[in-house]
Amino acid sequence: MTATVAPDPLIKQPPDPEHFLRPLALMRLEHKRQRQVWDRLEALAEELSTDPAFNEAATILAILTEELPRHAEDEEADLFPLLERRCPPDDNIGDIVAQLRSEHELDEDLASFIVADLEVLAKGAKLANPVRLLFNARAFAEAQRRHIAWENTVLLPLARRRLTEADLKELGRNMAARRGIVYPG
Ligand SMILES: [Fe+2]
Ligand SMILES: [Fe+2]
Repeated sequence: MTATVAPDPLIKQPPDPEHFLRPLALMRLEHKRQRQVWDRLEALAEELSTDPAFNEAATILAILTEELPRHAEDEEADLFPLLERRCPPDDNIGDIVAQLRSEHELDEDLASFIVADLEVLAKGAKLANPVRLLFNARAFAEAQRRHIAWENTVLLPLARRRLTEADLKELGRNMAARRGIVYPG
């Protein structure tokens, strides 16, 4: 009897176009997926001495280099400017956005070191300094978890309150275009 292996949830599935009709819910889904990826990144760095995990490195590498920059662009090019346009001064959106943009920049720097190590692992080679990956992976995962929690509890609820139907349509359409998907609405 052959055992059935469940598909890896991190392997990219074709996106459902309907998701782009609810772009804030889609961002939340992407945050959930990102949290799973950073757990896996930490586990990979911790188990490196016993398990070389070439495939795992390649999977996480693709997410770090393709999905994460695209997600940050959804926020920086579309969501943040829409919020800056709609929020009254009391919302302090300028400060919130400045903080989130600077976190994106810091995380991008840290991710570049992790990407360099994952590229080595994905080729089946060994790291000269696996402890460096471990420290970077832990710092990155920790920073991302905080960032995501802040976006889920502050940014997305604010967007739900302040953005208009037309804004959400614009956001969803731009997110779909960034992924090469035809917007369904
Ligand atoms: Fe973000
Ligand atoms: Fe985000």
